[in-house]
Amino acid sequence: MIKNNSSSAIPHTAGNKSTIILSTLECREEEWPTVLEPAVDQLKQGQPVAIPTETVYGLAANALDPHACQRIYDTKNRPADNPLIVHISSLDMLRTLVRPDSSPRTHQDDILDELAIPLSLKPVLRRFWPGPLTVLLPKKESVPNVVTAGLDTVAVRFPAHPIARKIIELCGFPLAAPSANLSGRPSPTSAQHVLEDLNMRVSVIVDAGPSSFGLESTVLDANRNPPLILRPGSITARMLQPYLPTIKVFKKSDVDLLVTPEEMKQMEERPATPGMKYRHYSPTSPLILFHGDPTDVDGAAVELEIQRFVRAELDAGKRIARLSLCPTLLPPQSECYWEFPLSATGVPEEIAKNLFAGLRAADLMQPDLIVTQSLVAEDEGLAIMNRLEKAASIHRHIVLEN
Ligand code: TXA
Ligand code: MG
Repeated sequence: MIKNNSSSAIPHTAGNKSTIILSTLECREEEWPTVLEPAVDQLKQGQPVAIPTETVYGLAANALDPHACQRIYDTKNRPADNPLIVHISSLDMLRTLVRPDSSPRTHQDDILDELAIPLSLKPVLRRFWPGPLTVLLPKKESVPNVVTAGLDTVAVRFPAHPIARKIIELCGFPLAAPSANLSGRPSPTSAQHVLEDLNMRVSVIVDAGPSSFGLESTVLDANRNPPLILRPGSITARMLQPYLPTIKVFKKSDVDLLVTPEEMKQMEERPATPGMKYRHYSPTSPLILFHGDPTDVDGAAVELEIQRFVRAELDAGKRIARLSLCPTLLPPQSECYWEFPLSATGVPEEIAKNLFAGLRAADLMQPDLIVTQSLVAEDEGLAIMNRLEKAASIHRHIVLEN
């Protein structure tokens, strides 16, 4: 690893590809093109580069170059049938990715009206772009199949992060970028996390500090009826509902806005998003997720049960890392116990921001078990629970007797 800041330059010699970290943290905006030049050069030469976004760090490559995109799959060991999200820095760039609209129109407001974008989606894009929202759009033939894993839609995101946008703008082409982790690992929310997974596998990491949201973008498919959130994120179903009144979320439940068990069964036959079937966000140590009872409003019962469980495991000589939603009052005093509070007060936005960093920090202790707990799966909580349920290998359900 080599830092661009000469006072902290640490050359790394092992491995087959040395990794440079370019920090934009102390740079003024007019310096960005110079600081980012080595990253942009690599991207122009078809090499992948790790870049910051407001959600998580991405492993980016030229979305219009199939060889460059293939290198993304190779670098992070990604299964070939899991398509990539393509990032743009302006609506104009959509022209390189999305089919033109063939129906004759009398009135064209902007670029969105020129393209085959579902009518109901246009107000959504005008409201939520740039930002953490990815949408599936009918792909132009020139978009390489390796990007979409052979699907006829391309997933597109217009990030809000100024450095991500500057890099795309300087390249002049859209960037395909999945999260910059090794496949199956928690997504990276800092340059250090990228380095943990991809040191010597990627030549440049652009460091712009911690990601502000911490969970990946909401993935929305508005080509189907009803429109479906395939992956929940910080743009929630409630936020989209005024624009897409029939919107549903892909999750098995009878609850309002989530798909019914019947709809779920149909979708399981043909997964709506190929990424769904893979294991995700997994720490190396097994993660046990305690699911609270809805009647346990203040969480006292689940806390009691977790404390009892942790003490019994410590007594049995196990090493335990705890991811708590906020600091616990009486943590067990033991050299084999580590607690990582995900927020100071239990606010979902803060938990979301710290979740992947918490999973990685807990994992670094090499515990026998990582213990955590559910939160209410609504709004932002839905996105957090989606990641926790995928990361967990053991589930414990607390049921309170009436
Ligand atoms: O916030 C984010 O979305 C981050 C940053 C880097 O932008 N990217 C990210 O990419 O999370 P990734 O690859 O980790 O997740 C992309 C998800 C996968 O579940 C994939 O299956 C789905 O989007 N996807 C991509 N293209 C698709 C398509 N055409 N149809 C259905 N699902 C698609
Ligand atoms: Mg990912």
